[in-house]
Amino acid sequence: MVKFSTRCVVACLLTIGMCFLQYNLFFRNFKFKWWIDLGKGEKSHLEKKFPSALIVGVRKGGTRALLDAIALHPKVRIVRRETHFFDSNYTLGFDWYRDQMPEVENDNEIVIEKTPAYFTNEHVPKRVYEMNPDMKLILIVRHPVYRTVSDFTQVYYNKLEQNKTLPVLSVEAFKTNEAGIEKINMEYKPMTNSLYDVHISKWLKYFDLKNFLFVNGDVFRANPLRELRKVEEFLGLERSITPSQLVFDYNKGFFCFRKTTKVRCLGLSKGRKHRSVSEDVVAKLSNMFEEHNQNFFRLINRTYSWE
Ligand code: A3P
Repeated sequence: MVKFSTRCVVACLLTIGMCFLQYNLFFRNFKFKWWIDLGKGEKSHLEKKFPSALIVGVRKGGTRALLDAIALHPKVRIVRRETHFFDSNYTLGFDWYRDQMPEVENDNEIVIEKTPAYFTNEHVPKRVYEMNPDMKLILIVRHPVYRTVSDFTQVYYNKLEQNKTLPVLSVEAFKTNEAGIEKINMEYKPMTNSLYDVHISKWLKYFDLKNFLFVNGDVFRANPLRELRKVEEFLGLERSITPSQLVFDYNKGFFCFRKTTKVRCLGLSKGRKHRSVSEDVVAKLSNMFEEHNQNFFRLINRTYSWE
């Protein structure tokens, strides 16, 4: 009888022990799974965020280089491709736009998008304002004559690639009016894109000048850090980009950018040799842009030496 009850007690203890072990294993497993889930949960705290700053233009002003350079800042996340949301993709809606955004880890990180076509599209200022009246707007400007030649060079090579008829700047750029006077051809985009006064006045109907930062593209190209300090300040970021992150490439003749160990230069279409333009045409372009430049300086309350 005693032997039987001893066996019973041992069996019971063994069963309890097994149950405890099973429970413990299950519980630890559960805890482990919960920990993984939590890990995943933390990851999902990375969320897409709308931009608080836009590089709106100007086309061929150095927009790509400026975006890549400001991306060196640890608190800046950029949208690498041009979304064209506020001009051509507006009907796709804000969910689509958000999908294009990078993920941020916390609220201190800011997102910047660049689409140079925004500056010259008449619908964009209102749309941007309606989305965020405090949007920070960065405009990198460049000497309008060289901007036009650069724009023309890009159009020329695009047409060459597509086997299309190749344009001649002196033919496309000007139009003779009824009085026989040669004027800017207002239907030719490489020309009208350089009429900064025309475009900025549309933006100033919605935004104050304080929403804008004007970056001097001609200075930025040769000395990026000087202009980048202004961008950091404008975006409310501490100074973080260092000279060692800006690496001058003597072959290319331009700065490249070092984020970690890798140095990234812009593609071949940036900083390529311009199509040659006669001095006569350059002088004509200078004359025609002069009045627009003065108007632009008045509107933005600062001047550039674009003689
Ligand atoms: P060019 O090709 O006429 O030299 P965007 O990116 O807005 O299209 O501007 C292109 C221009 O950026 C180039 O025009 C070039 O002059 C300028 N740029 C400024 N910094 C540059 C850099 N670090 N690398 C390449 N191009 C740069």
